[in-house]
Amino acid sequence: MSAGKFINFEGIDGAGKSTHIAYVAGWLRARGHTVITTREPGGTSLGEKLRELLLHEKMHLETETLLMFAARREHLAQVIEPALARGDWVISDRFTDASFAYQGGGRKLDLRKLIALEQWVHPHLQPDLTLLFDVPLEVARGRLEATRSPDKFEQEKAEFFAATRAAYLRRAEEFPDRFRIIDSTQTIKDIEISLDKVLSTI
Ligand code: TYD
Repeated sequence: MSAGKFINFEGIDGAGKSTHIAYVAGWLRARGHTVITTREPGGTSLGEKLRELLLHEKMHLETETLLMFAARREHLAQVIEPALARGDWVISDRFTDASFAYQGGGRKLDLRKLIALEQWVHPHLQPDLTLLFDVPLEVARGRLEATRSPDKFEQEKAEFFAATRAAYLRRAEEFPDRFRIIDSTQTIKDIEISLDKVLSTI
């Protein structure tokens, strides 16, 4: 069995990524892989406490960014790196690309600060595959309105999500080898067909 790989799921709120995590995990398990599914911010007991703060408390942009990376440091040390060292596959609902999209794109934090944090926290590790679920804003917002009460990020205005989506797409252009853009306006069945194609190439 080949060594495990690291896959992150990304997209603006309402893009529908969460629906497909179980599908990808099932696809890999059916092929004999051990798969861990986890999320950011979160994934550890400290990380989940930080998630509560990050999703509900107002704070300075740099505080928010540092806490995202603090949660990530713990997540890497406790969950991601040990799993990959065992040869397991790791699927994370968001990773550092989300910081570039939300704090960098949405909130306009200087990218040099994000690059410095990325270099500090995981200088030698990047996902093997990044699935970017991409939808026009109107579709994403329509889906969000149909769900539960919005968190701090989900309450942001359309311009925030436009900038976040654009930052994700720029990041995909910058790292074409690992990014795959999934057109998330498709039906769930058609998205599964796209995912089958992508997964059979890794
Ligand atoms: P999300 O992954 O969308 O979870 P749920 O589906 O339960 O709402 O929520 C996490 C939020 O955190 C999302 O709005 C994006 C934000 N976030 C950042 O702003 N920066 C980051 O680095 C990460 C990992 C997430």
